[in-house]
Amino acid sequence: MKLIIAGSTGFLATELTRQSLSNPLITSLITLGRKPCPPPDPSTLLPNADLSKLKSVILEDFDRDDYPDNIKSDLSNADACIWTIAITPAQLKTVPWETTVKVCRDYAVTGIKVISSLTDKRLFRFVYVSGANAVRDPAKKPLLLGDYCVLRGEAENKILEFGKTSGGRVEVAIAKPGIISGPTKETGVLARVFFGVVGIGKVRVGQVAGALLEGVAKGFERETYENEDLVRVGSGTVGGVE
Ligand SMILES: NC(=O)c1ccc[n+]([C@@H]2O[C@H](COP(=O)([O-])OP(=O)(O)OC[C@H]3O[C@@H](n4cnc5c(N)ncnc54)[C@H](OP(=O)(O)O)[C@@H]3O)[C@@H](O)[C@H]2O)c1
Repeated sequence: MKLIIAGSTGFLATELTRQSLSNPLITSLITLGRKPCPPPDPSTLLPNADLSKLKSVILEDFDRDDYPDNIKSDLSNADACIWTIAITPAQLKTVPWETTVKVCRDYAVTGIKVISSLTDKRLFRFVYVSGANAVRDPAKKPLLLGDYCVLRGEAENKILEFGKTSGGRVEVAIAKPGIISGPTKETGVLARVFFGVVGIGKVRVGQVAGALLEGVAKGFERETYENEDLVRVGSGTVGGVE
């Protein structure tokens, strides 16, 4: 299968790439980002990693309704896309709100629309990686990061709606991880206590990547993967075991 990972440079995208390189079901891997995909660290690669199937595609500006023809050609005929591009809560203080809205919602909506239109495959799978605290009903806006949680929930709604109106051609899943940690990013003790108190779960980056790759390759187990689903499904995958 041909898989597109949107957000080549990110924490989760890097792990998705690492696992995909050794996944025999993935025969072509495209990373899509405004910067090139960093070369995978050879010391972290899993057995049988095949770097020849990886192509890094650069779209310098995602703020558009359509993609240039050369990019579309690289993205054509994909079986699936995992969308990890977002402004994370840690960046909210430095990124203008208008940009956050575009990056978290509009870029993904354009992404699913454009990329799904470029494939002749009978079925195209798309995962939007959101967050555990995103709310689809604005009336449930939480006290902490309220506008951001509503924005991410609005993006989830739009992506789900796109799948529903595709006549079964585009299958959509939403991933809602809690706090993701991994070998390159461990969560501090204070943060773990805080997130425990506010009820946000933890998951390893290998588990998130393993669960999502299983979903795009073999079929989604569910439409919405809550944090506990990612832990459970991801733990049973090769990449989910550290
Ligand atoms: N990490 C966590 O603990 C956690 C927890 C829950 C949910 N999530 C969700 O998981 C997803 C991935 O998170 P992550 O930790 O991998 O985030 P990350 O490391 O910050 O990666 C975010 C990606 O978005 C891209 N991006 C940001 N602004 C962009 C722009 N204006 N144009 C194009 N690309 C842009 C970044 O590219 P550049 O390098 O070019 O900026 C990067 O590739 C996000 O949806 C996040 O909300 C993460």
